[in-house]
Amino acid sequence: MSNIEVVPTHVAFIMDGNGRWAKQRGKDRIFGHFEGVESVRAVMEESVETGVKYVSFFAFSEENWNRPDAEVNGLMELMMKCMVNELHTFLDNGIRFRVLGDRSRLSKQLNEAIDSMEEATAACPRMTAIIFLSYSGKWDIRQASRRMAEEGGSEIEDYLVTAGIPDPDLLIRTSGEKRISNFMLWQLAYTEFVFTDILWPDFRKEQYRNALLEYASRDRRFGKVK
Ligand code: IPE
Ligand code: IPE
Ligand code: MG
Repeated sequence: MSNIEVVPTHVAFIMDGNGRWAKQRGKDRIFGHFEGVESVRAVMEESVETGVKYVSFFAFSEENWNRPDAEVNGLMELMMKCMVNELHTFLDNGIRFRVLGDRSRLSKQLNEAIDSMEEATAACPRMTAIIFLSYSGKWDIRQASRRMAEEGGSEIEDYLVTAGIPDPDLLIRTSGEKRISNFMLWQLAYTEFVFTDILWPDFRKEQYRNALLEYASRDRRFGKVK
């Protein structure tokens, strides 16, 4: 059982440093991405055990399309492989799977795999894991504004791809970079940030627990006086 006193409902991750992790070992960047999948698994397990209800992973940004073809293709293949191999992990642990981002830029094959995994896990009750793929915060606000104008709506939250999902309580970015890199710009308005120098493939349960303890010690005021 968790002994963390204040458990965040929604934890978001900017999983950064895979390339540097591989380079330090004299390997190709894609090895870092493969090893990073193990960190995703560890974080999901720990989240379920701790009682976190939503975990978001920034897996591929709109800007990441500008990386060399070999890396983009390698990442898309890795995504496909995970989807095929990990369905049982989601079902066994009661984790709902969702992908958010500009799906029009993904291949037909990957889109079909995402649809079938989302359908298969739709009723999973314990936690929701969200993979942000071909996503950027500016893209999200643009697409939401456009649809809101078309439909005459009034609340932008209803049109962001995260509609219905509570805003992140905690954002963790690994690898020592201290920036948002166009992740959920709107949704992170009152999120607590934890930046760590650890590279994503080295971020496992112990490192996650430390970040959760740090979160529990924060005083969230939301602009009010306490
Ligand atoms: C994060 O690791 C994963 C993606 C952005 C897809 P990087 O690939 O950015 O690794 P570094 O930052 O170059 O070390
Ligand atoms: C942010 O990492 C995007 C993801 C983790 C998917 P990047 O490595 O792309 O960000 P920058 O280029 O360092 O800002
Ligand atoms: Mg990076």
